[in-house]
Amino acid sequence: MSEIKNNVLIACDHGGFELKKDIIKQFNNYSFKDFGCSDQSSVDYPDYAHKLIKELANNLTDPHEDTEHFGILICGSGQGMAMTANKQQNVRAALCWSVESAKLARGHNNAQVLCIGARLLEKKLAFEIIEAFLTTPFEGGRHVKRINKI
Ligand code: RB5
Repeated sequence: MSEIKNNVLIACDHGGFELKKDIIKQFNNYSFKDFGCSDQSSVDYPDYAHKLIKELANNLTDPHEDTEHFGILICGSGQGMAMTANKQQNVRAALCWSVESAKLARGHNNAQVLCIGARLLEKKLAFEIIEAFLTTPFEGGRHVKRINKI
């Protein structure tokens, strides 16, 4: 079974700017809310991660059940975005580098935010990771109690 999430929050720093543009073009069946940045000038990734996760946290109807609000954060490595996003209560951000890691982040960890490293991934793989993340449902079951312990 696959879910369709139409509302995707997205943000990047300068390292992720080009890939963000390509993602918005490629996934034209989704509606993106873009939190910047808006060109390749050097910026600080936490500023953009904070904007996105605040909006996400404000809109989560239920931290475990909400499947309407998802985010994608892109920087050079994805690490800084993931570190920042995971500071927000009830937000689970996953740094993914493969289709399998994206499927597990959704299926087992019920991550709402995907973090990717634009400088470390081929565009084709980045698209495959995003597709996997946006269409893999949370498996629930034994994973719920583990998530509750985070
Ligand atoms: C920017 O040069 C770079 O540090 C940033 O995009 C990211 O990789 C940080 O985690």
